[in-house]
Amino acid sequence: MAITLSSRAIQIGDSPTLKINAKARALKAAGKPVIHLGGGEPTYPAPQAAVDAIIQKANSRKIKYTPSSGTPELKQAVLAYTKQQYAHVFEPANVLVSAGAKQALFNFLLAAVEPGDEVVFPAPFWVSYPEMVKLAGGAPVIVKPAHGLRVTIEEIKRAVTSKTKAVLLNSPCNPSGHILSADFIKELVEFTEEKKVFLVMDDIYHQLVFDGAQTPNPCSYAKDFNNLVIINGVSKLYGLTGLRIGWAVSANKELISVMGKMQAQSTSCNSDLSEAAACAALTGPQDCVKDLCSVLEDNRNTLLKELAKIPHIHVEKPQATFYSFVDFSYYNKDSNALATYLLEKVLVAVVPGKAFGAEGYLRISFCADKTAIIEGVRRIAGALKNLPQ
Ligand SMILES: Cc1ncc(COP(=O)(O)O)c(C=O)c1O
Repeated sequence: MAITLSSRAIQIGDSPTLKINAKARALKAAGKPVIHLGGGEPTYPAPQAAVDAIIQKANSRKIKYTPSSGTPELKQAVLAYTKQQYAHVFEPANVLVSAGAKQALFNFLLAAVEPGDEVVFPAPFWVSYPEMVKLAGGAPVIVKPAHGLRVTIEEIKRAVTSKTKAVLLNSPCNPSGHILSADFIKELVEFTEEKKVFLVMDDIYHQLVFDGAQTPNPCSYAKDFNNLVIINGVSKLYGLTGLRIGWAVSANKELISVMGKMQAQSTSCNSDLSEAAACAALTGPQDCVKDLCSVLEDNRNTLLKELAKIPHIHVEKPQATFYSFVDFSYYNKDSNALATYLLEKVLVAVVPGKAFGAEGYLRISFCADKTAIIEGVRRIAGALKNLPQ
């Protein structure tokens, strides 16, 4: 009899973003002039303070295991960041540092979700949410907005049942670039407190905002705090995706402690070099964040200007992140087919909307440089004109 793999593992789908990246990389390696507008990885250089910290740490020749939940220095840096950004004071026992926001989210799901528990989140969603919830034994409950890309608070409320363990919210949103309103966040904080379900705020893009917008602060509406979990990290904010450092902050010490125990039994701890670098990025000069936002805002404006030249598509202006989520359904309702066509025909990588729970859309990133954005959209426009009718 053949050796079988676990049913938990084999139900998990490939990451569509990584799939498109791999295909684009292979074409590039074959010498093709690929333009990558599919990535979720900022191209800007790492802050100097982070680089210096890695060099200093490496030169010390002490690269050891770290405390499992994060070094005291990094936890203090996370606490200072949280106090500044959320105007709320937490303690070290409220913080768990993990290998990226992704592990922080996964730790949460493993700690909170019983088999069959439901985790509610709106579409479009980050591609990993459904698979992560399933891996944790839970059932993803996806709330599709009746109109456009913005879910209403009533739509979320209707999806919450006695089986709901958590509501998971990513605002600013990957892929839409939208920020949900302060009224929405206030009602959601109050509603989840009353219903005694966790509210997990995946805030990984919360500072990457444009036109003077602000991401509403859930802490300013919380009374109980015990159900609120804030996830953040250095990947997007400082372009430090390769460090793999993110964190969860919650007043619920029991939750953080259980999440920490699971982390200790899986990865033991985070990389010593990465923790030193993340700490330096958080405590070092922050002008890089402002500079980054203005570059991204400029890139977004360029992208919107170029996209406006393509007829029959629909774009809602992104207020944040480095993604735009564009309705291309006039050209092809099958977003996988359209993304494959664009990559094969004109060598432009974008991510199919289906992966984010919104068929007919394509996610176009604007973290690439401006020349790539202009040339990429020019190629897309050309390819759409030549689409076989
Ligand atoms: C919404 C969202 N959450 C979490 C992550 C993961 O971030 P990290 O690199 O810190 O694991 C991403 C990365 O693309 C993301 O888009």
